[in-house]
Amino acid sequence: RIAGPCSMVIFGVTGDLSRKKLMPAIYDLANRGLLPPGFALVGFARRDYKDEDFAEVVLDAVKAHSRTPFRQEVWDQLAEGVRFVQGTFEDDAAFSQLATTLAQLDQERGTGGNHAFYLSIPPNAFPQVLKQLSRTGLAKPADPGPGRPKPWRRVVIEKPFGHDLESAKELNALVNEVFPEETVFRIDHYLGKETVQNMLALRFANEMFEPIWNSGYVDHVQITMAEDIGLGGRAGYYDGIGAARDVIQNHLLQLMALTAMEDPISFHPRQLQIEKIKVLQAAKLVEPLDETTARGQYAEGWQGSEHVVGLLDEEGFDPQSRTETYAAITLNVETRRWAGVPFYLRTGKRLGRRVTEIAVVFKRAPHLPFDQTMTEELGQNALVVRVQPDEGITLRFGSKVPGSSMEVRDVNMDFSYGEAFTESSPEAYERLILDMLLGVPSLFPVNEEVELSWRILDPVLEHWAAEGKPEPYESGTWGPSSADEMLARSGREWRRP
Ligand code: BG6
Repeated sequence: RIAGPCSMVIFGVTGDLSRKKLMPAIYDLANRGLLPPGFALVGFARRDYKDEDFAEVVLDAVKAHSRTPFRQEVWDQLAEGVRFVQGTFEDDAAFSQLATTLAQLDQERGTGGNHAFYLSIPPNAFPQVLKQLSRTGLAKPADPGPGRPKPWRRVVIEKPFGHDLESAKELNALVNEVFPEETVFRIDHYLGKETVQNMLALRFANEMFEPIWNSGYVDHVQITMAEDIGLGGRAGYYDGIGAARDVIQNHLLQLMALTAMEDPISFHPRQLQIEKIKVLQAAKLVEPLDETTARGQYAEGWQGSEHVVGLLDEEGFDPQSRTETYAAITLNVETRRWAGVPFYLRTGKRLGRRVTEIAVVFKRAPHLPFDQTMTEELGQNALVVRVQPDEGITLRFGSKVPGSSMEVRDVNMDFSYGEAFTESSPEAYERLILDMLLGVPSLFPVNEEVELSWRILDPVLEHWAAEGKPEPYESGTWGPSSADEMLARSGREWRRP
C-alpha cells in the first residue's frame, strides 16, 4: 500500500540516526513508489540552514546510505517537498514557524493536514517538544467540518523509553497527555526486520512446528544478539545505560514474546499486542539472580586481526564506569505451554562475531537404540531462526554417517533468504516508517509492553547496581565466564553461532 498525503517532521535531524537511517529510508520508500507524490519532509534543528542547504544534507545522506539505486527524477520530486525550520526547542517563534510551514505545505503539496512528528532526540528533550506541539495546536488536527476526512497527527519516539519502570511510566504519561496512545508509534527497529516478522509465519502458517513448540519437547530457548563492534563514539548515550537497558529491555524481550506467544486470533494489531502482552505478563526472572544472570564489560583484546581497547579506555567513558557491555538473564514463562522451559537472553558488544538468532533447543530423544559410542557426536535437535546476518532458518538433527556402522552425527538443513527469494528485504526503518505513515501499529510496542518489560528487568538492574563492577571479558571472545557458568549449572551451554 502507498502512504496517503502527509508530511513528516524530524526533530534531531542533524543526528546520526536521521542521517544513516531515516532520510535514506524515506528516499527508498519514494524510490519504490510507496510515498505520495506530494510527500513533504521537514527538518527542525538549531543549524542555520535554508531549505536548499537542508536538501543537500538529505541528498548526501541518501547517496551514502540508501539501499536502492539513485534516480534523479525520484530525488527531484522528493526535494520539492523538503523544508527546514530553524530553532531550539525552547523557541516559541520557531514552533509557530513550523505550524506556518506545515500549513503552507498543506496548500502547496496537498498534505491534507496529516503530520507525523519524529522525535529523534534524547528523552530529556521530549517534555519541551511535546509542550510546544501542544501549545501550537500541532498535536491536534482541526475539525475539518462535516463530510470531510479528519486529518491525523502521529508522534514517533525512539528508545530509551525511560531507564526503569517508574521513569517509563512518567514518560508514557507525558507523551499520552499530548498524543493519545493510538497516535504514538514507539520504534523497536527489530520488529521491522523481515526475519523477526517471519517468526509469525513460521509458527502460524505451518502445521509441523506448533505441535512440538512447548515444554513437552522444548528443552530451552536461547536468544542471542551479539555484536563485534565496540562503543567508541557512543559514550554519551551508552555510559550508565548498558547492554540490558539498550537491548534486552526492548529487542530481546520482543523476540521472546514472538517466540513464546499463543496464536493471535487474527493479525489485527490489537490481537498481536494481546498475545505479546500475555507473554510479558507471564515472564518471571529465575532466582537467585547471582546464578541466573551474568554481566560483563569488554577489556582489550583482538577483533579479528585488529587490536582493540577495553571499554574503560574508550573515549568519553568514565574510567571507573560500571556500565555493562554484556548482559544475560534467565526467564521462565509461566504458562501451561512453557512452564519449566528456561528462556536465556544474552547480548554483548565486542563478542566473537555479529549475529542475532533465536535457537529453540529440543529435548533429547527419550531412548536411543544405538550403541553408545555411535551417538557421541549427536547433540540436541534445534531450530534456529537466523535473524541476521545470513538470514534464514537452520534445523539441526542427527543423521546416519555413511558407512557400515550405525553412527549418528549432527547435520544442518538450511533455508536461506538469498537462495529462496528474489525479492529484497526492505530495511527495518523503511518498513516501520511506511507502517507509521499508513497508521498500521502492529509492529510498534504499546506503553503496556514497555512497562511490562521494565517490570521484568528492574530487579536485575537493582541487583547488579548493588553488586559492584561487572566482570571483564576479553574483546573478541564470547563474554564473561559467569555467563558460561550460568548455563553450566543446569548442564547446558551457550551456542557458538
Ligand atoms: C540499537 C542499539 O538498538 O541496536 C545499539 O542501541 C545496537 O547498541 C543496535 O548496536 C544494533 O542494531 P542492528 O540492527 O545492527 O542489530
